[in-house]
Amino acid sequence: MSIDLAVVPVAGHGTRLLPSTKSQPKEMLPVGRKPVVQYVVEELTRSEMRRLLFVTGNGKESIENFFDVNHELIRFLRETGREELLATLEFERRPVEYAYTRQREQLGLGHAILCAEPFVADQSFVVALGDSIIGLHADSNIVQRMVSEFERTKADVVIAFEELDDPKEVVHYGIAQPRGTAGDVFELADVIEKPDVAEAPSRLAVAARYVFSPAIFEHLHVTKPGKKGEIQLTDAIRGLLKAGGKGVGLRLAAGERRFDIGNFESYFQTFVEFALSDEEYGPSLAKHVRKLLEAAPHK
Ligand code: UTP
Repeated sequence: MSIDLAVVPVAGHGTRLLPSTKSQPKEMLPVGRKPVVQYVVEELTRSEMRRLLFVTGNGKESIENFFDVNHELIRFLRETGREELLATLEFERRPVEYAYTRQREQLGLGHAILCAEPFVADQSFVVALGDSIIGLHADSNIVQRMVSEFERTKADVVIAFEELDDPKEVVHYGIAQPRGTAGDVFELADVIEKPDVAEAPSRLAVAARYVFSPAIFEHLHVTKPGKKGEIQLTDAIRGLLKAGGKGVGLRLAAGERRFDIGNFESYFQTFVEFALSDEEYGPSLAKHVRKLLEAAPHK
């Protein structure tokens, strides 16, 4: 059976978005009409993921509530004849199993994945970061393509990469070191976390989606805490590749951008882009934004 299990880590503090994230998860912030994590789930189900394990933490209960079926709300909308609003809750009925475990201390993304080990055990699995949307309105099947490559190449890890327009941006991301020329699919020699511009082996930045064989766990277990005392997923991936594990990189297709909402600059940009493309309100918002820009052209 093909991989249908995805782990979605959503336990981070989201400090870069304070104060918005003081008492609500960043993964529940709205982008246009929906919370970020709903796009992530829509994308995963589009790619045939049927079992979703969220790694949550303190203060993240609203994520669990969001994916529950809310019978009371459904009854209320039905009784008051608001069928069009009922349609917005269709996602509750998807044929997906939801499971939740908790990361009891925020010790980094690698540690969050390690919290999934008792549930994942000896299965291969997808990891999708809960604060990143792939493709406008999550219109992407990148995970399905990654799973196909994982199975075809018998890889231990497959990672999605996005080519950065600005080479100076490499300092913010995990960057691919491809073996040979990097086509749409390429062999991965190494991943360098936040390299200096001069030392970056490429402009291909890790794009929030991974497929792993269970071999990643043994490397996570021996990964020492790095920056800020956190167990970094990239360090465990490097360990896996060094030990002879097979790594494959997949480029996002044209138009299949990664929207990372983890900092205000990209959150604002993402919100505006999604809202501008809203079928109902996009055109009037565009008019409004144009008016604002014309009134303040110096800004
Ligand atoms: P980030 O690297 O953006 O970390 O997480 P963060 O802690 O959420 O945010 P800042 O840096 O404090 O602003 C990327 C993804 O990994 C999850 C986050 O919830 C997010 O979806 N994560 C991160 C965890 O689940 N646990 C962690 O310990 C860290």
